[in-house]
Amino acid sequence: MRTVVSVSDTVVETPSTITLRFPYAPSAEPGQFVMVWFPGDDELPMSLSYTDGVSKGVTVKAMGDTSRRVLALAPGATLGVRGPYGNHFDLTPRRVLVVGGGSGTAVLAPAAEGAIAQGAQVTVALGATRASELLFKDRLIQARARVKVATDDGSEGMEGYVTGLAASLLDQEPFDAVWTCGPEVMMRKVCAAASEHEVPVFCSVERHMKCALGMCDACALGPYHVCIDGPVFPAERLINSEDFARFHRDPSGRRVPFGGPAPA
Ligand SMILES: Cc1cc2nc3c(=O)[nH]c(=O)nc-3n(C[C@H](O)[C@H](O)[C@H](O)COP(=O)(O)OP(=O)(O)OC[C@H]3O[C@@H](n4cnc5c(N)ncnc54)[C@H](O)[C@@H]3O)c2cc1C
Ligand code: FES
Repeated sequence: MRTVVSVSDTVVETPSTITLRFPYAPSAEPGQFVMVWFPGDDELPMSLSYTDGVSKGVTVKAMGDTSRRVLALAPGATLGVRGPYGNHFDLTPRRVLVVGGGSGTAVLAPAAEGAIAQGAQVTVALGATRASELLFKDRLIQARARVKVATDDGSEGMEGYVTGLAASLLDQEPFDAVWTCGPEVMMRKVCAAASEHEVPVFCSVERHMKCALGMCDACALGPYHVCIDGPVFPAERLINSEDFARFHRDPSGRRVPFGGPAPA
């Protein structure tokens, strides 16, 4: 059932990303998502970037028409929220490497905070196209994560993709788990680098969703439904999948390659 909430606060995080805070009482775990209906627009799955207490939050990056319009929302705007749905990160590993690509860090930040609160040492490999698009860097530092940065254009930290930074961290020191969210091509590379060191990886995966209840097939990923079997998947469920980092489904359910048109 959908609950109507009023946006209590908005925070412009980067030029393309905004956080909406709103009162929502149901308890949630880091990694879970809610379905957010933007009145007059679509309903979209959004990871909870703030999971504690009643003041929840989602952090939205401008991608298509709906998410672009979200950037213009102001406090007082009305949303319809249902959930939380899906599984969540297991916060028990002691030494965690978090690898966030762009807006993927939205779901990883509360997981990092939760693990640190339970005594874990958390290192974050934080990636973005450019310095101004680094998400939650200050928040993660404030939570006492060790934050390392990579930007595609070299405007901050290591120049290049965050996958290179993650691989070098994995070469240098032991970790008990890797948590990652970002473009699937990025996550596939993270899985490959971690498997060389036999470190378990958990990926937060995004697919188009309609019901979020395992009934409509919109979010199919091989034999799984991302809405109920995920969104957090252990790498071994993904790396042999024909779809992971290769195909997704468009809103009408057609299987289409990432970054290209549907085959004729
Ligand atoms: C479990 C889950 C959690 C999510 N959490 C967040 C979140 O915390 N923050 C957030 O901003 N979004 C999140 N998303 C993605 C979000 O639901 C929408 O897909 C996204 O906001 C784009 O919606 P749109 O209608 O504006 O764009 P659309 O009209 O659907 O897409 C516009 C263009 O962007 C491309 N596109 C859409 N989504 C993505 C994507 N995820 N990666 C790369 N290209 C894409 C499309 O292929 C298309 O070319 C999540 C998705 C899932 C399944
Ligand atoms: S969104 Fe309907 S089955 Fe997952």
